Amino acid sequence: MTVRLPAHVKPERYEIFLKPDLIGFSFEGEETISLVLSKPTKEITLHSAEIDIKSAEWIKGSQESIGGRVEYNKKAETATFIFPKSLKTGKGELKIKFSGILNDKMRGFYRSKYGEKHMATTQFESTDARRAFPSFDEPNQKAIFDVTLMIPGNTVAISNTVESVVKEDEAGWKVVKFAPTPKMSTYLLAFIVGEFEYIEAPLRQGSAGQGNTMVRVFTTPGKKDQAKFALDVAVKCMKYYEDYFDIKYPLPVLDMIAIPDFAAGAMENWGAVTYRESTLLIDEEKSSSANKQWVAMVIAHELAHQWFGNLVTMEWWTHLWLNEGFASFIEYLAIDEIFPEYDIWTQFISTELADAFSLDALKNTHPIEVEVGDPAEISEIFDRISYSKGASVLRMLWKYLGEKDFRDGLRHYLKRHQYGNASTEDLWKALEEVSGKPVGKIMANWTSKSGHPLIRVQRTGNRQQLIQERFFISPISKRESKDNTIWSIPINGKLMDKKSMEWTGNGKLNLGEVSLVRVDYPHQYLKSLESQVKLGKLGASDRLGLIRDSFDLAQSGNSPTTLALELAKSYINETDYIVWSELTGQLSQLDNLLALEDFYPKFQAYGREVYSKIAAKMGWDKRSGEKHTDSLLRAMALYQLGKYGELGIIREAQERFKKGSPRSAGGAGRIEPDLRGVVYNLVAGNGGQKEWNSLVKMYKEEDNQQEKDRLGRSLGLFKSKTLLKRSLEFAISKDVRFQNTLGIIVSVWGNSEGRYLAWEFIKKNWKMLKERYAGGHYFTRVFSPAGEFTKVSDAKDIEEFVKKNPTPEAERTIAQTLERIYANSEWLKRDKEGIKRFLGKV
Ligand code: BES
Ligand code: ZN
Repeated sequence: MTVRLPAHVKPERYEIFLKPDLIGFSFEGEETISLVLSKPTKEITLHSAEIDIKSAEWIKGSQESIGGRVEYNKKAETATFIFPKSLKTGKGELKIKFSGILNDKMRGFYRSKYGEKHMATTQFESTDARRAFPSFDEPNQKAIFDVTLMIPGNTVAISNTVESVVKEDEAGWKVVKFAPTPKMSTYLLAFIVGEFEYIEAPLRQGSAGQGNTMVRVFTTPGKKDQAKFALDVAVKCMKYYEDYFDIKYPLPVLDMIAIPDFAAGAMENWGAVTYRESTLLIDEEKSSSANKQWVAMVIAHELAHQWFGNLVTMEWWTHLWLNEGFASFIEYLAIDEIFPEYDIWTQFISTELADAFSLDALKNTHPIEVEVGDPAEISEIFDRISYSKGASVLRMLWKYLGEKDFRDGLRHYLKRHQYGNASTEDLWKALEEVSGKPVGKIMANWTSKSGHPLIRVQRTGNRQQLIQERFFISPISKRESKDNTIWSIPINGKLMDKKSMEWTGNGKLNLGEVSLVRVDYPHQYLKSLESQVKLGKLGASDRLGLIRDSFDLAQSGNSPTTLALELAKSYINETDYIVWSELTGQLSQLDNLLALEDFYPKFQAYGREVYSKIAAKMGWDKRSGEKHTDSLLRAMALYQLGKYGELGIIREAQERFKKGSPRSAGGAGRIEPDLRGVVYNLVAGNGGQKEWNSLVKMYKEEDNQQEKDRLGRSLGLFKSKTLLKRSLEFAISKDVRFQNTLGIIVSVWGNSEGRYLAWEFIKKNWKMLKERYAGGHYFTRVFSPAGEFTKVSDAKDIEEFVKKNPTPEAERTIAQTLERIYANSEWLKRDKEGIKRFLGKV
């Protein structure tokens, strides 16, 4: 369904006045929108949702003022003002008075709790600015905004620009007026009112003002010490981007604000970037290396949007990937520069590329560019296709064009479209003009078609050929889809743009895992690559790629699972975190598949064999000055080995928990932050009521969100069904913020003992969950973990449920989930006996 506003009314400027009531949870508003009418009209339609409009008036110069009546269209989320006579072509002003609710749904203009008090804050992307003020709420309706907020005297107000005037009245109210914004989209506005403290640093050398930008990080009272890391990363990122894009950040301030209740991870509002506390704050005592890395990545992502997204905005949500795919790519460039020790480009392969592969292997994936109309459709495409596949095709193009042409093309694109909107075509055009290469032609099928290729290396006699076809998660999906797409694939220095190509080499294909393809080698070929792994002759990316392809080919029915299990054993001497990270993801998937089978203990024994050497090598204790990725590897190896049942590891975790938990005498021997996840998870996985009580007590007493996340996740890992049920109830209790509920439920989902409990729980609490989260960023998580089910009967149950409870916000996700279940069931049927025999021998 397409619901665009008519094109003959264009907003140019909004003067907005808002007065939030932090006690009664409502707000009063008044706005004057300067409009241009390109033809006479009796009606003006704009977006508005859950707003009570008190009056509307059309004003033209000083002579004309016409009152209009309002008609709401709830479904289209619009309000139409109907005037008694036709309004003339040209400029005029629409003046509207309204009021609304400061809701608790983390969207639109909403409230968030700190201590016993509340702040007011906003989350507008994608289509919720209309919940704060009637507006032309589409990304290409750019305008200038003059914001004025009337707030209680003890609070501060933050918006996109700097405050320019502050007046205080006798009743204790402050009026804060902000400087006009640049020309921008509605979804990037932000208003925040509450008690905050902050730290700051100038972006460029010299003092603030005179074209310099002040970077500030805001927290609720008492937390500003946790803002240092973020401030430092932000300043470095901004410098990097100003240089890389060759365009200065145009605003005098860049504020970053930690909000206690937040729907997504973070939001790039121009000049007023909002975050969850867990994606912004770092507590040196409590934050792990993984927490730090994530905070840095999120900041780099949101700040990349200040150019990609804010300065140049997608024409319509169909091109959302220009925002999200881009930011997801560029963040790696910045982080690689700032934290070279993260080895972040190699991590890319086991994060973004892996996520892209996984979702894009489904028949129910979608093209990067996808037609969307209503808000439900829009919110659903904030997925791994727009983000990770988008980032992955950009990385491929970056390597293909060369870093310099790519960067120059981006500069060209940004300068051409700044303060405006653009489409995918516009980007290709700019890159083409700079590089002289047919970018549009090469990229067409990567962004306009679903899926990605599998390249088969085929030997017939003396001839060796590469043949491409679309890759599917399972033979069922492949059969049903009959896709003949041919991609232009950069591969080992060549461009393969036909169905097949001669190939004389015998080394690894897709070196560096640069392209979005998988490779299927003949048996002997693979064996020779395997020996190269053993001899340490392949780089980490390529070792990772071999493992990934091998497992994915098994899942998809192209080769037996035992081949992958065999290959994995040649990785026992592996020491690279990223390779282990991929292997861990793959084995976890298999672990999930086999968890309810009678021979599962044998798979656990296999798991112990795979991880014992690396876990022993890493040990429990940090070495001084060790690599960042080694800290990550330690936590991973120990947890996996413990998860597969190694008693020594479990005992050590329990021991450390006893010594380190706050309940022990004096909290002696605090647990090192990098190991807390391992410890909590293993304690829960092997614990009972007593451990459940301790973890819940710690959760309730804890104020740090990263620590809360770790504790919450561990609550999903108990084996006892009674305790898991309690964890589910706890997730929706008053002790858990709405933003953290789904994380706990998802953890129970992911536990083979908890799968069915979680699903029953979701069905039982469906109305409440939908009420709380539908339309929001993480709603699809209510369903997506069901992709771990392995039985056709499970799929049927879900199908039946959604038939009775239609859920347009998750329609595609549900189709994807069902497809995964069918794929799992087929995989298990096909390879179960083989795996069992193989494991019998290990
Ligand atoms: N623009 C998004 C935030 C967003 C997502 C708003 C979905 C509305 C709907 C932001 O830039 C973003 O992508 N945030 C990510 C974190 C990021 C580091 C991948 C998020 O919130 O998950
Ligand atoms: Zn983003």
